[in-house]
Amino acid sequence: MFPALADGYAYLDGAAGTQVPESVIGAIASAYRSGLSNTDGAFPSSQRAEQIVADCRQSIADLVGGDPAGVVLGPNMTTLTYRVAFAIAKNWSAGDEVVVSRLDHDANIRPWIQAAARANATVRWAEVDPASGELPTDQYRRLVGGHTKLVAFTAASNVLGIRPDVAAITAIVHEAGALAYVDGVHATVHGPIDIRTLGADFYTTSAYKWCGPHVGALIADPALLEAIEPDKLVPAPDQVPDRFEMGTPPFADYAGVTAAVDHLAGLASSPSQSRRARLTSSMTAVERYEADVFSVLLGGLEEMDRVTLYGRSDRRAPTAYFTVDGHDPWEVAVKLAERKINVWSGDNYAWEVTGALGIRNAGCAVRASLVHYNDHTDVDRLLEAVAALKR
Ligand SMILES: Cc1ncc(COP(=O)(O)O)c(C=O)c1O
Repeated sequence: MFPALADGYAYLDGAAGTQVPESVIGAIASAYRSGLSNTDGAFPSSQRAEQIVADCRQSIADLVGGDPAGVVLGPNMTTLTYRVAFAIAKNWSAGDEVVVSRLDHDANIRPWIQAAARANATVRWAEVDPASGELPTDQYRRLVGGHTKLVAFTAASNVLGIRPDVAAITAIVHEAGALAYVDGVHATVHGPIDIRTLGADFYTTSAYKWCGPHVGALIADPALLEAIEPDKLVPAPDQVPDRFEMGTPPFADYAGVTAAVDHLAGLASSPSQSRRARLTSSMTAVERYEADVFSVLLGGLEEMDRVTLYGRSDRRAPTAYFTVDGHDPWEVAVKLAERKINVWSGDNYAWEVTGALGIRNAGCAVRASLVHYNDHTDVDRLLEAVAALKR
């Protein structure tokens, strides 16, 4: 199903990008094979491109429980977040406040800090608990108030795997009349997502983290997007969501996004259900499966006296972040690569939290992350290889 997985490597690097199934490769190839032109033309290859875009919006809407008219497509989450931050902050001024979190990937921090600086708005920080790496909900009662415009935080940390209580935080945000911008890039592949239940006014995700091509998406209520005026070219469409999208998009990749959503929907579901229902049952099964494999990984690492694990929580995506005494994290990644095991090391752009944990200047840590195509053999290989590192 995943041609790349046949190369004998244990792909424990999904948090930085997943492998793609044959169906995604086929969808991209067949979009090109069928003849593909730009949109708004009078001929079939143009209409095919329009259909591909519409299908892509619908598939992402199904994945997260959103409205296809509120699905903004773009190159990746970082670009979309910068674009939206720049546009929203046009209406901010001195005295306004934005709240960012120390747990987040920098892509959900820096665009807001820089946008706030341009508007002379104030930035407030939600802190992680240094012992557990959790992002305590209660602090938001202090941080969020009448001056708060927007609160940006993650649905799951890309290094610690910690999953904050998104719905509880967004409830506090909404009580204050502010907007919640939720980074779902790490979370989406690990369980069912419903942006309405989460209370996310904006939710971001990137298809390359869930077996699709390198495409990002921002999902919001179309009415909310109507109220935001991004910079755009004069002849470019002015309607939502198109006005947030710049230039000619990668249509064939968009076909691959739809195929990736169909792949997720088909993991554990009955074909007679709607795609949204199939996604909910498949991703619920994925969450259970990953928790089982991850418990073996965490348990194995915990038993090794030379290993220090970062992050401790019951609400956790299957992502381990650890150091091994006497070994630089990069050196561990190199040694594991020699045994055909892919892991990451370094800050993985979780710049603030690695600082808060006091490990940024020490090469940070090693990240081993699971997705649904990993299994117990991958975990066994990792544990054996870590145990075999020289004393
Ligand atoms: C949690 C999280 N947020 C944001 C990003 C940035 O996403 P993108 O590469 O789509 O810009 C990443 C990428 O690794 C991530 O893991």
